[in-house]
Amino acid sequence: MWSTIYIGLAIICLQYSNVNALDNGLALRPPMGWMSWQRYRCITDCDTYPDECISEWLFKNATDRIVEDGYKKAGYKYVIIDDCWMEMERDPNTKELVPDRKRFPSGMKALADYVHSKGLKFGIYEDYGTHTCMGYPGVINHMELDAKTFAKWDVDYVKLDGCYADIHDMDKGYPEFGRLLNATGRPMVYSCSWPVYQEEKGLMPNYEALKKHCNLWRNWDDIQDSYESLNKISDYFAVNASRIQPHAGPGHWNDPDMLLIGNYGLTVDQSESQMAIWAILAAPLLMSNDLKNIRPEFREILINPQVIAVNQDELGIQGKRLKVERKIETWVRPITPVVNGLHSYAVAWASKRDDGSPYATKVKLSDLGLTSAKGYKITDLFNEENVLNDVYNVNHNISIRINPSGVIFYKFTPAE
Ligand SMILES: *[C@@H]1O[C@H](CO)[C@@H](O)[C@H](O)[C@H]1NC(C)=O
Ligand SMILES: *[C@@H]1O[C@H](CO)[C@@H](O)[C@H](O)[C@H]1NC(C)=O
Ligand SMILES: *[C@@H]1O[C@H](CO)[C@@H](O)[C@H](O)[C@H]1NC(C)=O
Repeated sequence: MWSTIYIGLAIICLQYSNVNALDNGLALRPPMGWMSWQRYRCITDCDTYPDECISEWLFKNATDRIVEDGYKKAGYKYVIIDDCWMEMERDPNTKELVPDRKRFPSGMKALADYVHSKGLKFGIYEDYGTHTCMGYPGVINHMELDAKTFAKWDVDYVKLDGCYADIHDMDKGYPEFGRLLNATGRPMVYSCSWPVYQEEKGLMPNYEALKKHCNLWRNWDDIQDSYESLNKISDYFAVNASRIQPHAGPGHWNDPDMLLIGNYGLTVDQSESQMAIWAILAAPLLMSNDLKNIRPEFREILINPQVIAVNQDELGIQGKRLKVERKIETWVRPITPVVNGLHSYAVAWASKRDDGSPYATKVKLSDLGLTSAKGYKITDLFNEENVLNDVYNVNHNISIRINPSGVIFYKFTPAE
């Protein structure tokens, strides 16, 4: 049943994305990169925190680490500045936005050049309203100038936040800024925060419009550095899936917010759980961490090629949470290869249990919606040493054992 629904959906998505979705040729897979906010917030005191303040060095160092430590090779591409990069006032003569003179002494074009010289892409943050969330100038009265300024600086990705704005103006204002970005002639990924501000005030966002004007959009709360916050966000995407899931596809993605992996709040098991669920959700993979000091076990999770391949699957179908039983969540996503008309599936079992030992259970393949009469090959995506050589019939019960707050992540490929 699942596969029939999903083949139908995939066809609708493919047809749809050509007609009714933003067609700037960008973000055909969920964007991957690094963004400052989750780890570095609005630290602006470079005298006290020279290695953590929002400054050109922070982004240059992150660029170097991404290139030299294997993240670029794994697919991470965008280096994105979040809030707190500006002077409090626009240039009095030109009215242009001005990067903080002390923290970005070389200016944004030079920083973009640096990022580009390493083969990566450069992203920046602004806000649709009168001010950014941290009080710096917003775009609302200077939209054309700001779009042109970003193009002049060779920006490749714009995140437009929605603080200090009227949520009713956003249906017009965000598309307008998108048109102005387009009019510059420079392709820039456009990340919109418009639905989260509307939905938090009880106004249902217009997803057809979002898809037409934005490459990705933040649906819900900001993620915070805790397992509790991660669960709140994944619950939102699970429970509201029927409303949200159909709108994702190549060029237009739901964004559950940044990866916490490598920071303070998640254990290794919980980090695998976020990576697996973000892969199922076809979510942007935006790290926000200290790559200079990251522990190797977190780096391994972030660059896992098999898990990234699920996230970046070319069909771009967002997966769903299928069920929750005894605090074990089953998440399922149809992916390639499609064999004799049947999808492969990525399946994550995320444990929300806290009773000490790993939880053992059996899963029948047909209960996951798997239907291939010839059975399935199984790959354990996090644990290469767990080689499952057989072809498993859909009536077979596989045994799994999931660590408390951990995940088991398998790929099922229909046998030829
Ligand atoms: C970060 O960048 C600054 C300025 O370029 C440099 O002095 C410093 O050594 C870098 N730190 C690391 C750990 O790469
Ligand atoms: C602008 O929009 C047109 C029409 O959707 C599209 O073909 C073109 O690639 C866009 N250009 C840029 C720079 O985004
Ligand atoms: C589903 O979305 C609504 C907002 O529209 C939210 O209030 C609700 O909490 C969401 N469900 C979950 C489980 O997050």
